[in-house]
Amino acid sequence: MTTKMRAAVIDRYRQPQPTIQSVARPTMQPHDVLVKVMAASLNPIDHKTKDGAMRLLLHYQFPLILGSDFAGEIVAVGSAVTTFQVGDAVYGRPRKDRIGTFAEYLAIDADDIALKPKNLSYVEAAAIPLVGLTSYQALHDLMDLKAGDKVLIQAGAGGIGTLAIQLAKQLGAEVATTTSASHVELVRQLGADHIIDYHQTDFSTTLHDYDAVFDTLGGKNLARAFQILKPGGQVVSIAGRPDATFARQYGLPGWKVGLFKLATRQLTKLAQQYQSQYQFLFMWPSGTELAKLTMMFEQNRLRTIIDRTFAFEQLEQAMAYAEQGHATGKVVIEIGTQASI
Ligand SMILES: NC(=O)c1ccc[n+]([C@@H]2O[C@H](COP(=O)([O-])OP(=O)(O)OC[C@H]3O[C@@H](n4cnc5c(N)ncnc54)[C@H](OP(=O)(O)O)[C@@H]3O)[C@@H](O)[C@H]2O)c1
Repeated sequence: MTTKMRAAVIDRYRQPQPTIQSVARPTMQPHDVLVKVMAASLNPIDHKTKDGAMRLLLHYQFPLILGSDFAGEIVAVGSAVTTFQVGDAVYGRPRKDRIGTFAEYLAIDADDIALKPKNLSYVEAAAIPLVGLTSYQALHDLMDLKAGDKVLIQAGAGGIGTLAIQLAKQLGAEVATTTSASHVELVRQLGADHIIDYHQTDFSTTLHDYDAVFDTLGGKNLARAFQILKPGGQVVSIAGRPDATFARQYGLPGWKVGLFKLATRQLTKLAQQYQSQYQFLFMWPSGTELAKLTMMFEQNRLRTIIDRTFAFEQLEQAMAYAEQGHATGKVVIEIGTQASI
């Protein structure tokens, strides 16, 4: 049996594109499973990692295999794994120091995976882990959205937005979202109650008395989000600057906590001015939470929206397409075939 595999590798930050190389298959720890990757989705963190934009939070050695989530089939289990077996169809988001899903094989901690929804293909399932967990953690874990709460979800047609709208509706919330005119029908079908064409209207002039904003845009849109909140409301951002509380919980050294405190001064002031709360979320891997999403997909309470799929060999085109930031739902690359297991 060959011990090599094809993988999309970068050898330094700001390398224009990863190259597909033949590298050694990953070795397993006792709590790992080895997965034959069938499909992996693209996420903005892939190009941010490639460009070194995450360096304050994430440290990587080179060569580095890119890719942050996947769906595939287990081909080996570690000696301490009791929850999965060879042949299981699974999906997941590896922990941040063990990324590398743009590869034919992936060794991943069994705690970071769940059984893939039976009613979804590998391509459909690969579109879920990172955006599904992020949305669940923002809307359920951090915001604790309740029936009747009003939430704005920014960029409703994106990878995060298309899933977050559906999840917020499952939690019983009233959902507003921003999008382009061409995506109005899609976000309506996903459940959005109020739709704002961001090219025509500034959301902060039309929405008010909101309980929460899920910010996926950062910058001016994040600063404006506070204006639409009722007192006691909250902003959870995945695209704004990390705040000092996050930095402390993440275990960053004091100088970085200070740096983030300084960088989020304006947001802290806005939160005080509008009697609200600002939190930065850096999503975490969780097989347990992913299993909850599996159930919701199997009950047809959630669905995936896939913009385009690309072959593994077309990764460069796929990354260039996703990097434009206008995908409708997810971009997925097909890596393996069942015949090749
Ligand atoms: N912190 C974390 O843990 C975490 C986790 C996941 C993602 N993120 C971050 O969250 C952000 C969104 O991720 P994603 O996967 O959803 O990205 P994405 O799929 O690439 O988002 C693309 C979508 O954004 C929409 N869009 C662009 N500008 C907009 C604007 N001004 N107003 C409304 N919609 C706009 C586009 O719609 P149009 O084509 O109509 O413009 C498109 O549908 C990224 O910055 C990503 O890095 C962070």
